[in-house]
Amino acid sequence: MKKRLFSLTIFILLIVGVFVFRSKTISSPVDSSHIDDSYIVSNEDKPNEREVEDEYIPEEEVVEDLLAGTSFVDDEGRVIVKNTDDILVLVNKNRNLPSDYVPEDLVVPNVRFPFEEFHEKKQMRREAAEALEELFSAAEEEGIYLFAISGYRSYARQKYLFDVRAERDGFEAANKLMAYPGQSEHQTGLAMDVSCQSLGFDLNENFGQTVEGLWLKENAHKFGFIIRYQKDKVDITGYSYEPWHIRYVGKDAAKEIYEKNITLEEYLGDETSIPVHN
Ligand code: DAL
Ligand code: ZN
Repeated sequence: MKKRLFSLTIFILLIVGVFVFRSKTISSPVDSSHIDDSYIVSNEDKPNEREVEDEYIPEEEVVEDLLAGTSFVDDEGRVIVKNTDDILVLVNKNRNLPSDYVPEDLVVPNVRFPFEEFHEKKQMRREAAEALEELFSAAEEEGIYLFAISGYRSYARQKYLFDVRAERDGFEAANKLMAYPGQSEHQTGLAMDVSCQSLGFDLNENFGQTVEGLWLKENAHKFGFIIRYQKDKVDITGYSYEPWHIRYVGKDAAKEIYEKNITLEEYLGDETSIPVHN
């Protein structure tokens, strides 16, 4: 009898002991001051694996949006560029310069023109003018004599020239070669039309086959210029082939555009299709 009582007491003490131990480990506060909270993620906070997979973008596929914030839409629904003074400003049939935009740093480059007197079209923005001087000098060192024909064009002059051409050929035919006012790169002060003596300083497609035109095509990018309107890019640029129209974009962009044989639109990630009509 005594033995059974003793066993029962031991059993009860064991049960009580286990109970007391368990309740202590569960309810006693744990000193967690050493735990970094940032590692504590509840299941709700954890992104599920599918989401993690969706969010992963390989580095080479991350395309910087170079046109973000560079334009606004006016009351008439036209896209107006805001980064007017940017060397990489994109002006085309979808993107208009403000009609009152005049670059502040226009200068006359020290290069060969087929006429002596001052005219607004002799001018370019300073950085572009200096690059043009280097380009013309490098050409001359190789016996290539380029002539600058037409650079900066004010909105008013572009309008006058466009209206005359549209009156003669109709709007659409005019707009294949000549920009609607506000849509010309010549208003940026970053473009120059180039020709040569053998063409009588004319601007036509034959320039692309002259020694001067061929030299320009292969060398313009070294000085920060691109041939802006290429033969095989009419569906992107909206303009006919213009081997004479060079646009300053800076050396890095020009090199990439030349090597990849792309347009400024493609370089900047502009995916808006060029309208058939304005
Ligand atoms: N010829 C080009 C497209 C211009 O008028 O700006
Ligand atoms: Zn031009």
